[in-house]
Formats: sequence, structure tokens, C-alpha cells
Amino acid sequence: MTEKKKWQTQTRMVHEGGMRSPFGETAEALYLTSGYVYDSAEQAEARFNEEEDGFIYSRFGNPTVRAFEERMMALEGAEDARATATGMAAVTACMMSQLEAGDHIVAARALFGSCRYVVETLMPRFGVACTLVDGRDLEAWQAALRPETKILFLETPSNPLLEIIDIQAVADIAHNHGAQLVVDNVFATPVLQKPLTLGADITIYSATKHIDGQGRCLGGIILGRQDYIQDRLAVFMRQTGPSLAPFNAWVMLKALETLQLRVDAHCDNAEKLTQTLVAHEQVAEVYYPHDKNHPQYALAQKQMTRGSNLIAFNLKGGKADAFKLANGLEIALISNNLGDAKTLITHPATTTHSKLSDAAKAELAITGGTLRVSVGLEDGDDLQNDFEQALAKLG
Ligand SMILES: Cc1ncc(COP(=O)(O)O)c(C=O)c1O
Repeated sequence: MTEKKKWQTQTRMVHEGGMRSPFGETAEALYLTSGYVYDSAEQAEARFNEEEDGFIYSRFGNPTVRAFEERMMALEGAEDARATATGMAAVTACMMSQLEAGDHIVAARALFGSCRYVVETLMPRFGVACTLVDGRDLEAWQAALRPETKILFLETPSNPLLEIIDIQAVADIAHNHGAQLVVDNVFATPVLQKPLTLGADITIYSATKHIDGQGRCLGGIILGRQDYIQDRLAVFMRQTGPSLAPFNAWVMLKALETLQLRVDAHCDNAEKLTQTLVAHEQVAEVYYPHDKNHPQYALAQKQMTRGSNLIAFNLKGGKADAFKLANGLEIALISNNLGDAKTLITHPATTTHSKLSDAAKAELAITGGTLRVSVGLEDGDDLQNDFEQALAKLG
């Protein structure tokens, strides 16, 4: 372990986590087991008494799931982690494991729809109040704090219009108040942005996205300090069971070997496609964090090493042209998922954000002409050509 810590991240992504079985396999073993056996009744007693380390039941822990957690800890620079069945299980477990009736959350309003449901609708049913703010406005975070505020929650870049929130500044606001900052880092990926290094207390991922990266498995993970993970989260997960299945953990573990390489290739393609969109006369606005026209370009440069693979843009021709473009693409597929090797295009107003009121959509600047692209790993020139031929059919 000490030696591995000296290695560069890419080397650790290939080797970190888990241990070889006595068979000496090259690829990490998949421990597809729900339970474990003990050498004696005394050993079972010792495991349950926590006098002896070892696995007890896969709802509490599993060697393959642990290997995935350890590799993610190395990537994120986290003391500890717990993997969950989905990204939403991670968000819900994170909130439920540390909040109680009377507490208060302040969250950025530009959140993935289900995350917004958890803080805005679900948690208040259990007596936890929530205030939504424009996450870009640091004074709004400060003004929303109450004596009982325990968690500040944000996602950056946000879904779908890629708003950037200053993680370090919001972490300072949280800490000056004795609260914790939780960051959903899905869009940036653990390769491009390190919330814990920027001052966040907890990072959450939907591993379903870039971490799997090939659209196969659902999964999630929560990373943070050992005291929170072991004293609060592990107990919550053991008793309520949002745990990641070993098979999915194995897929994710192996996918981490190529994550940095894939994310770099995603960014290359996204940068190229941004140029195509910026130059096209049918496109009104383009939002890509590392494009110099992005309203928070300087902040995106400061906290993200590259712009990631999501681009949002508005078409001058509104919803009719947005549908025509999506239908006219030959390589990019119409889907609400993201972070896949395949390029995916989404019309947020009628899919991912359709449940929001018109006022909430307007607040987030989502219009009929807004499209979001998750740029994949196809050839970059092919992707540019695909969008050019579909854009040429508009107007
Ligand atoms: C920003 C963000 N957070 C959380 C989730 C939830 O992840 P999952 O679908 O794995 O539950 C998503 C899914 O799209 C997302 O985009």
C-alpha cells in the first residue's frame, strides 16, 4: 500500500484495490457471493463483535465491492468510501445517514431532477427543510444559511446547462457555519475535478456514467472522511441495504483501468464538436465549460483540468428544430443517459427536466431549443460531420 501511494494515478487505477486469491489470477477476481462462512462459531462471534476483521454478509461488505471502493479512494484522494446500487442510492444514503428532523439543507437549484426531488420533496417529509439557491451566487448561499443548516449540496457542472459553481468558495461558506459541503461530481468525473481537494467534505458519483463508461451497469459511490463513512454511512447502509452488487462492482473496478484514457478522448471529441456548434449559424448559444465564451470560463479553468464531454446548446429554431436535429443525427443516439462511449443527445425540456414547472425551467434557462450532448468515443471527425449534416437540414 505504501509503495502504491508513490505511483502515478494511472498506474494505481490499473493496480490499486483488492488482493489476489491463492490462484494468482491476473484480472481481479469477481466474488459473486452474498454470504461468507466461518472456521468456527467462535470466529463468527468475533466477526460480529468486530474483534476480528473479515466479511460477514455482502450487504455490509464484499471483496470485489471493496476493491472498487479502494481504487476510487486512490483516484479521489479520499480516506474511505462506500459503493451503492445507483447514483441516486448514493445521494439518498448520504442525506439520510447524516440528517434528522429539524435540520436544514441549502442546495443549488440546478440539480439533476431526482437529486432535486430528494432534497426538495423527500427530505422535507422527514422534517428536514431545504432552501434552493442560484449556486453561482455566493451571497445567496450565505443568505440561505440557518442555525440548523447541516449540509450544502451542489453539482458542478450542472445538468443540463453546465453552470459552474465555485467549490472552494462554497466549502468555505459551509465550514464557517459548521456545515458540510456535499458535491455531486458526475459531470466533471473524478479525473477532471477533485472536490475533496477543493475543500468539499463528501463527493458523490453516479458510477453509471463515465466510471462504467460503456452504458452497462448502474452504480454509485460516496467518498469522504473515515469518521463519517464508518460511523454514519456504513451503519446506515448495513441496516437499510442500498449496497452495490458484486458483479456491477467488478465491471466498474475494471473500467477504472481505462477511465483517464477514456475521459481524455471524450474531452478531445467534445472540444472539436464545440467548435462545430459555435461556428454554426443555426446555433444561438453553446455552453461548454472550457470554451472561452462560457459565462464562467475562468472558474471552469480553475477547478476543472479539462471541460469534460457534455455540451449544451440552444437552437434558434426552438423545439421544432431541436427535434429535427436529434432525429437527423446518424451517429449520435437519442437517449437521456450520459458518459457512454456512444454519443447521446437529449432534449431536456421534454425528457430529463420535463417534470419541472415552466417557471423552474425558465430559472434554469432550459428552452424548447435546448439540447444536451454527451460526446462519446467515436472518431471526432465523424462526429463533426454527423452534426454538420443534421444542422444543414435546419432553417
Ligand atoms: C448529476 C447526476 N447525479 C445523479 C444521477 C443519478 O445516477 P443514477 O442514474 O446512477 O442513479 C445522475 C443520473 O443521470 C446525474 O446525472
